[in-house]
Amino acid sequence: MKTDTFRGRDFLTLLDYTKEEVETILDVAQDLKRCFATGEPHDQLLRSKTLFMIFYNQSLRTRNSFEAGMTQLGGHAHFLDPSKIYTPAMPGREVAYTTERVSDVARVLARMGHAISIRCYGDPVDWEYGGAHEMMQNFAYWADIPVINMECDKYHPCQALADVLTVKEKFGTFKGIKFVMSWAYSPSVHKPRAVPQSAIIGATMMGCDTVLAHPKGMELDDEVLDACRQYAEMNGSSFEVSNDFEEALKGAHVVYPKAWCATPIFKPPVGQDDPQKTQEIFDANKDWICTPDHMALADKYAIYMHCLPADRSFEVTDDVLDKTEGEGWLSAAFDEAENRLHVQKAIMALTMR
Ligand code: CP
Repeated sequence: MKTDTFRGRDFLTLLDYTKEEVETILDVAQDLKRCFATGEPHDQLLRSKTLFMIFYNQSLRTRNSFEAGMTQLGGHAHFLDPSKIYTPAMPGREVAYTTERVSDVARVLARMGHAISIRCYGDPVDWEYGGAHEMMQNFAYWADIPVINMECDKYHPCQALADVLTVKEKFGTFKGIKFVMSWAYSPSVHKPRAVPQSAIIGATMMGCDTVLAHPKGMELDDEVLDACRQYAEMNGSSFEVSNDFEEALKGAHVVYPKAWCATPIFKPPVGQDDPQKTQEIFDANKDWICTPDHMALADKYAIYMHCLPADRSFEVTDDVLDKTEGEGWLSAAFDEAENRLHVQKAIMALTMR
């Protein structure tokens, strides 16, 4: 495979990359992980290069893994708080001397650095599904340097890469691995769909037998589901949707329960602009919490995964999330968090050269 397909490319969704390319990113990530573990210098890869990071939303893992990753690669990650610059805004959302059009911000930063990464969902785009992704695409259109998605309202591709790297490390294969991405209860109904949508894209693309489980009313984007069906067909694997939490977990190798929300962020299919309906669905499904009894339904050597932060006592019990060693099934959530560093270093090293 030609390796130079990465240089200068945006990284907005895994859907823009082939399976072969994702395999290369994972190989590079594992190589960089080995360098990190052994202390082998790799700070020449992006020496003197700058990543501009625009965070509209809070973050622990994403910010620190990108920032540490750039330091380790020899470059610099520059944190930008949109409220402290002229807030990048799309046409129609501009406010005089408060915002600056995305096209202008993108072109200015592209004159000064080597990549722009963005996290945006929710309030900055009035919870309009797809609005944040469209803004990132607009950044990518105007910036002639790579634009990296650090989570929008549709996709969290860096998280998905860390997820599949974790599966690869734990099982050594994707074939025959039952990967269950499940909805879980949270007191917060304001959570984007980006993580589950990217997780099922990653799992089906790599060839896992993937199950998406959620209560009725928590459906994901049809475009994403169609892509997953296509990947499963290409790989000779399976993709199924279930509305039964316990049934879905039976024999699972990967158990990934995580809350996501519907309205008012995501209009159809759950009651357009009907927050009460969303609240009713959440309240009716408080039993979608991952406990040791649920893990016992899975494969004996299953792993529990979560992108973190987890809502302890709601999405998952402490005795699942914290069981990182011992016999039988284990929590891989912290390995998964670490892998954010390694996969993002791989993306930056490949696209920012
Ligand atoms: N998983 C994840 O993206 O974590 P942060 O929100 O802390 O960045």
